[in-house]
Amino acid sequence: MTDIHIQPRPVVHQLRAFTPDLPDRTVGELRRLLGLDEVIKLSFNESPYGPSPRVVAALQQAARYVNFYYDPEGRELRDKLAAHYGVGSDYIFLANGADEAITLIAQAYLAPGDEAVIPALTFGTCAFATRLVGAQPVFVPVRQDLAIDLAAMAQAVTPRTKLVYLCNPNNPTGIMIDGSELRRFVAGLPQHIIVLIDEAYAEFVTDPAYLSGMALMPNHANIVTVRTFSKIYGMAALRLGYGIARPELVAMINRVRNPFNVNFLAHVAALAALADTDFHRLVAARNAEQRQRLTEAFTERGWQVCPSQTNFLFADTGQDSAAFCLALARRGIIIRPGHGWQLPSFVRITVGSPEQNDKLLAALRELNGQ
Ligand SMILES: Cc1ncc(COP(=O)(O)O)c(C=O)c1O
Repeated sequence: MTDIHIQPRPVVHQLRAFTPDLPDRTVGELRRLLGLDEVIKLSFNESPYGPSPRVVAALQQAARYVNFYYDPEGRELRDKLAAHYGVGSDYIFLANGADEAITLIAQAYLAPGDEAVIPALTFGTCAFATRLVGAQPVFVPVRQDLAIDLAAMAQAVTPRTKLVYLCNPNNPTGIMIDGSELRRFVAGLPQHIIVLIDEAYAEFVTDPAYLSGMALMPNHANIVTVRTFSKIYGMAALRLGYGIARPELVAMINRVRNPFNVNFLAHVAALAALADTDFHRLVAARNAEQRQRLTEAFTERGWQVCPSQTNFLFADTGQDSAAFCLALARRGIIIRPGHGWQLPSFVRITVGSPEQNDKLLAALRELNGQ
């Protein structure tokens, strides 16, 4: 080990490889680690309802063709997504998960010396991608109620700012930005700054005051909206995300994209998923109902629950949550303690299926009784 003196790019010294904690393990690993037959994983905001049965059938059919490279332009899927959103297919780029979509935007638009304004409490990939390309993340504290502070974000903009990141609704809080506030914020930003709006959880939103970044695109050429098939479509392992932006931006992003970044099975699955609107309407409805149920149950326990528009809840338990999360893990229920966000009394819990939530609430009652 010690006789290798090859230096990586300087910024690589600032990066850390992802090291999984208990909540990041697969269900199989968790079963083995915990010595349990059943584990309910509520730490990753995955769909408890799986992909649509139509997706499973399409994948089975397609499996025999994986010897072929697939269309590097993803035309069929881009056409379907474009029709879905009422834009041209040159407004869409495909990526290996929303994660890669964010990284591609950074690679196309951020240079060393540029700044990216990012909420201090949000999903980590934008900060990672910013550092990866040698640019500077500028973190803006969230408000007292943990909502993104748009006024402070606007104030953090300098002549070096090249990108502003908004996650709407936000992870880990689940809180959405009010549509009229978003509109005002975007209107106040210089047009040479990319506004990257990560809408990974948009399909779970029920509040009519929500506004997608796509609605602002006709008046603002600097918006890039990012979405994913990982969440409501239940296809996290297939790795498929996409961005929607003006064709001029999409063309630049496509220059840094590996042509075969999205695999054939992901394409096939996405086309089947988009055709099954009933299934996804049902998932959204079930999620909204269970989200309400858990919000009420947690509030009754005396937890402060952030108002969520997603498929997870972020709540202040009022005490350090580490031991509590471990006790739940021993009962086969994995949730995420808030320590990674420097909020050790918080927990983030994915909204499970009705049966999973029955078990979660029973385990919480059991822990209370001890
Ligand atoms: C806000 C947000 N953006 C993006 C992602 C990444 O999604 P994908 O699985 O499509 O890479 C996640 C995943 O948890 C997320 O929470």
